[in-house]
Amino acid sequence: MQQIYLDHNATTPVDKEVLEAMLPLFRDAFGNPSSAHARGRAARVCLDQAREQVAALIGAHPVEITFTSGGTESDNLAITGTARALKNKGNHIITSRVEHPAVLNTCEELRKEGFDIGYVPVDSHGRIDCSALADLITDETTLITLQHGNSEVGTLQPIEKIGELARARGVLFHTDAVQTVSKIAVDTQILPVDLLSLSAHKMYGPKGVGALYIRRGTPPLSPLISGGGQEKKRRGGTENVPGIVGLGKAAEIAQSRLESDQSRVSELRNDLRRQIESRIPGARFYGHPEFCLPNTLYLGFDGVEGQTLMIHLDLSGIFVSTGTACSSGSILPSEVLGAMAVPESEMVQTIRISLGRGNQTEDMTRVSDALEKAVLEIRSKTGFSAGAVPK
Ligand SMILES: Cc1ncc(COP(=O)(O)O)c(C=O)c1O
Repeated sequence: MQQIYLDHNATTPVDKEVLEAMLPLFRDAFGNPSSAHARGRAARVCLDQAREQVAALIGAHPVEITFTSGGTESDNLAITGTARALKNKGNHIITSRVEHPAVLNTCEELRKEGFDIGYVPVDSHGRIDCSALADLITDETTLITLQHGNSEVGTLQPIEKIGELARARGVLFHTDAVQTVSKIAVDTQILPVDLLSLSAHKMYGPKGVGALYIRRGTPPLSPLISGGGQEKKRRGGTENVPGIVGLGKAAEIAQSRLESDQSRVSELRNDLRRQIESRIPGARFYGHPEFCLPNTLYLGFDGVEGQTLMIHLDLSGIFVSTGTACSSGSILPSEVLGAMAVPESEMVQTIRISLGRGNQTEDMTRVSDALEKAVLEIRSKTGFSAGAVPK
């Protein structure tokens, strides 16, 4: 059975060229970039090249790129590093309830340290209310941290507006762009952001490596990991050279195919949505209809539990994710949907389909066939009548 992977917002397969670029770093080119001899210098050259590749993808200067262990660490460094460094200036940080746990839990830890965390509300599509944001900023606010694209429903935030607002009020702005870098254009020369997180495994690179963009002129962050002075003392520890080289190569490939990937994947996504709408009654779609990641479809079907649907699809070799998380044996509804005021009865009925480079036009028909079959089967078992579909 041909498998269809539709969970690219969770992670992506490593591109063959990325793997090829990484392999020599495990073999002969194993030097420590801090060593002064030829092997060390060769590793340093690899790091420098990767820094240039990542910088080029987001319109940055290489000195503005700090390598980390991934999106989670980049978010932690940006938020905690800024909050602690600017503690004397103020103790107020603004975020939202639709952020990734890497941001939400970092803010929660800061709250325990005595910081005051403000949450800006979102509308029913999960989009930030900019006038509410303006009202939340106080003289104590040092940082606004709001994501660029939502990993679950795909909604894009108005980060140009948010950044302008932050600048006008003298507040630093961090955006978690883990889901947008490589999917849509992200240019730090245009976007008014001071700090930006990205992660390799969301862009056909390896897991466990990412970067934080820190605009030149941003006050020094308090490092989270002290050590031998690597990454300009922003992040101690011998660099993950193979991973960083993989990130660099992934960034170079993403830059060269950005526009073609974006239009191809959004066409597939739109085609799939049309097929679902025309074939399966009682389908609901979430996220912003216009400002949305090109690859993401977040949807639910009346009378069909998301977990059950995901298992049915899994058995057909189609891999999607659900809007609920399993924790200690209980099913927890998504916080993102909660912030969007989606009723709890709907929350448990959702799945996320996130497309990527490997998906083909013909896959979309197989996916809508499998969805239709699974939805009908589940509804017939639970006695749900499609004729009684609420609008
Ligand atoms: C928006 C967002 N931020 C941060 C992360 C965490 O990135 P990483 O898995 O590289 O730690 C993810 C991963 O799912 C994400 O989607």
